[in-house]
Amino acid sequence: MPNMEKNKLTAIILAAGQGTRMRSPLPKVLHPVAGLPMIARVISMVKSLQASEVRIVVGHGKNLVEQVVTSMGAIAFEQKQQKGTADAVKSANIDDLEGEVLILSGDHPLMPKEDLLKALAEFRDMRADLAVFTCVLKNPKDFGRIVRQNGDLKAIVEAKDASSETLKINEINTGAYLVRAEILKEFLPQIQPNNAQKEFYLTDLIGLCVENRKKVLGIKVSKRFAFGVNDQLQLAQATKIAVKNKIIDLMKNGVIFIDPNSCYIEESVQIGAGSVVYPNVFIKGPSQIGAFSVIEPNCFIQESQVGDGVQIKMGSHLEQVVVRVKSQVGPYARLRPGTDIGEECRVGNFVEMKKVKFGNGSKANHLTYLGDATIGTDVNVGCGTITCNYAVDKKKYETIIGDGVFVGSDSQLVAPVKVGDGAIIGSGSTITKDVPANALAVARAKQTNIADYALKLKGDKEKE
Ligand code: UD1
Ligand code: CA
Repeated sequence: MPNMEKNKLTAIILAAGQGTRMRSPLPKVLHPVAGLPMIARVISMVKSLQASEVRIVVGHGKNLVEQVVTSMGAIAFEQKQQKGTADAVKSANIDDLEGEVLILSGDHPLMPKEDLLKALAEFRDMRADLAVFTCVLKNPKDFGRIVRQNGDLKAIVEAKDASSETLKINEINTGAYLVRAEILKEFLPQIQPNNAQKEFYLTDLIGLCVENRKKVLGIKVSKRFAFGVNDQLQLAQATKIAVKNKIIDLMKNGVIFIDPNSCYIEESVQIGAGSVVYPNVFIKGPSQIGAFSVIEPNCFIQESQVGDGVQIKMGSHLEQVVVRVKSQVGPYARLRPGTDIGEECRVGNFVEMKKVKFGNGSKANHLTYLGDATIGTDVNVGCGTITCNYAVDKKKYETIIGDGVFVGSDSQLVAPVKVGDGAIIGSGSTITKDVPANALAVARAKQTNIADYALKLKGDKEKE
């Protein structure tokens, strides 16, 4: 591919528009589609094409947009006033451009890379000066219409400026273009705002190039290119499409979904073959689920790693946690950031953990809160155990429990505190001092039984 290397490709992504119809304080292009801001999707797509530079034209909400795009290695250029798409491109300092320029809209989050690669190849093979990406729509609504003569592209006419005859054309402008830098530099400054909206239309570049006998192509691409997000409904539709594709992809790779339409899985989630995902499961990335694991209904998993053969039972909530092979979690467990569940553990119902290292083979089966704790291997944490990790000084303290410890039910461990290997804690204890290895610790009031005292109390009641 020596030819490919000679071509310098710069992407210009237009993102200065206000997006009034979003009715949201967030700049339009920062709205997430399946968890990723629209503009981030467009940037990562063009980066995967080996574009040497990515320039973003920013305007409305520019500070926020700039932060996001520069963190991805793109360069922001400000368009002070939104005077139209041609003016937007001009704002990206076109004077220093060389080679090929790819122009895209920041609010088209679903453009498939494969189409772009094909279009790029065609553009190069045909030695074109300018190419417009088009597609045919049943209901072309507000899209610019592609006017052809004997099959050759002649002009783009905006819907607002079109005659009723032109409006009947079904081939539309998706708003994506490839152009050689010299052409852009020569013709962009010639565009005038001679139209209904008094705007500088980038689409006028086509007419200008045709008049000047430049080689102009209309390259047909898939409808995804035309999918722009202008309101919340379209944003939700875009998310739905991205999630659906992700789940189809997972199913192709052997993941079993009982009701794929009810699940939300982001693209940065990996799931191993043979795993089963029940209905209403929500997994945000980046997350990995191993093979032969089961995620039961209504689980929420975010930025977590779940190993092979793990069972996450119904209604569990996991955020930034690790669950290692063959462990079981839930139903109704809440695992908070920094928790690492070892291999073959059992974390049962109504158990909450935060920043806990839970050793291999350990169990906490019922109604327990563990926070800022290191738990050894094969520990049994009884029902209703609480680590009292938060003190009056508003600081967090640690609990360390050794291997093979048995914590009796309804115990409190007042941190900082250490329990040595093999120790036993008697049920109902409030442990405030360290427990040596292999000791039995009991910290509760001694039981007193007073004979027949119950009868006396009942007798007194009857006399009243
Ligand atoms: C544009 C095309 C139309 C095409 C459609 C595809 C023009 C004149 N028309 O129309 O042919 O069918 O896209 O979606 O180009 N922007 C700026 N600065 C501006 C104006 C726009 O950055 O001054 C950005 C917007 O934020 C958006 C993109 O450019 O990302 C397209 O602008 P928009 O106003 O949505 O153009 P359309 O009217 O949809
Ligand atoms: Ca638009």
